[in-house]
Amino acid sequence: MVGISHIKDLLEDPPADAEVEVRGWVYRTRSSGKIVFAVIRDSTGIVQVTIKKGLLPDPEFEQALNASIESSVVVRGTMHRDERAPGGQELRAKGFYLLGPAPPFPITEYQSEELLLDNRHLWIRSREQTAVMKVKASLLKGARDWLDENGFFEVTPPIFTQNACEGGVTLFKLKYFDKEAYLSQSAQMYLEALIFSLERVYALTPSFRAEKSRTTRHLTEFWHLELEEAWMDNVGNMKIQEELVSAMVQRSIGERKEELALLGRDVEQLRSIVPPFPRVTYSQMIQRLQDKGLDISWGCDLGAAEERAVTEQETIPTFVTNFPKECKAFYMKQDPDDPRTAKCADLLAPEGYGEIIGGSERETDLNILLARLEEQGVPLETYQWYLDLRRYGSVPHSGFGLGVERVLRWVCKLEHIRDAVPFPRTVARAYP
Ligand code: 4AD
Ligand code: MG
Repeated sequence: MVGISHIKDLLEDPPADAEVEVRGWVYRTRSSGKIVFAVIRDSTGIVQVTIKKGLLPDPEFEQALNASIESSVVVRGTMHRDERAPGGQELRAKGFYLLGPAPPFPITEYQSEELLLDNRHLWIRSREQTAVMKVKASLLKGARDWLDENGFFEVTPPIFTQNACEGGVTLFKLKYFDKEAYLSQSAQMYLEALIFSLERVYALTPSFRAEKSRTTRHLTEFWHLELEEAWMDNVGNMKIQEELVSAMVQRSIGERKEELALLGRDVEQLRSIVPPFPRVTYSQMIQRLQDKGLDISWGCDLGAAEERAVTEQETIPTFVTNFPKECKAFYMKQDPDDPRTAKCADLLAPEGYGEIIGGSERETDLNILLARLEEQGVPLETYQWYLDLRRYGSVPHSGFGLGVERVLRWVCKLEHIRDAVPFPRTVARAYP
């Protein structure tokens, strides 16, 4: 009996003499009549396969000759050292089965971005995309393990909602039978409800924003990792953020060195992503920006350009605290030490990548909250349930939302956020 092997295992520990079987897809192929050199890939790596006429039945040799790029194949043979082959080993075929043939692959070496996006369902097989998805899985695993070790319960908030957590401008509205509803922008309000029984909760959900702007950091659908903690102020909230982000990054470099190298990320740079991260107030940031010659005054939110300017030279993330209340959402707690500002922080990734987390301590005073909702012209009836959380046993609490693709974009050094998700949804497309 020949067992099926994964390519990575075969390259790391090639069995001497024993027959092995590999199944995967043709990554490259060339032939010279009597010999076919095919590179086969599976989920773990690539291996060179040599198929020589005479060493296997003729019909199988014919199949190898006809196996075009991205055909699925099963190969049986033995491993041999070969310095010229990727990984220093090649598989010499004694059997070759063409399982799923493929017409000429639409993606060749130089392609327009549009063609690649139209063929995203096929392009995700590329080595770069595969590497990014593996890093994403490691980041999420790092997050979940850290959250579990630190007493957080994973919860499952709804996606249909009647509340605008982050303001009306970016809401996707939909008809919900005879009512109006929205796709969730954030699970925050539901997480706030859940701390009264579970104290520390998190959710990983898709969030939706009808972002009209075409930027390299906005998706209309992104994966949102949100935490909410009872009995927590904004200072403690930031400590949780820096520990979580560091656990995620360290996990990804521990598990995905090769993938990160393939993507052009120097893993050594990421080793320094450990707490504490520097903390700067919004007011100090405005001063820095003005010193750099940017035209910005106190009261304006930081946009991509400003965030880039202040993080370009940095190597680790920075917290920006105490934004003016007016730039931020209604639920943020006013800072009694500087009532113009909120007890909040954005975490900005270094190297110009900018905001990866938005968080704050939450306003617990019912009257202040009512006044804030009124200021923003929010109709109160759909918020009654949320206001009840302030009426029934309110406690100090804080939380934040981390944009998974934003973090991945930074860790993998991706130019565009759409490459941080297999099927990107942007203003321009929801296909495939
Ligand atoms: O700063 P935001 O809007 O904060 C909230 O939604 C809070 N309610 C979260 C909370 O406290 N539970 O979004 C949080 C993060 C941002 O820092 C960013 O990383 C990401 O979500 N994000 C986006 N990522 C990709 N595309 C978009 N359009 C995004 N909008 C926000
Ligand atoms: Mg934000």
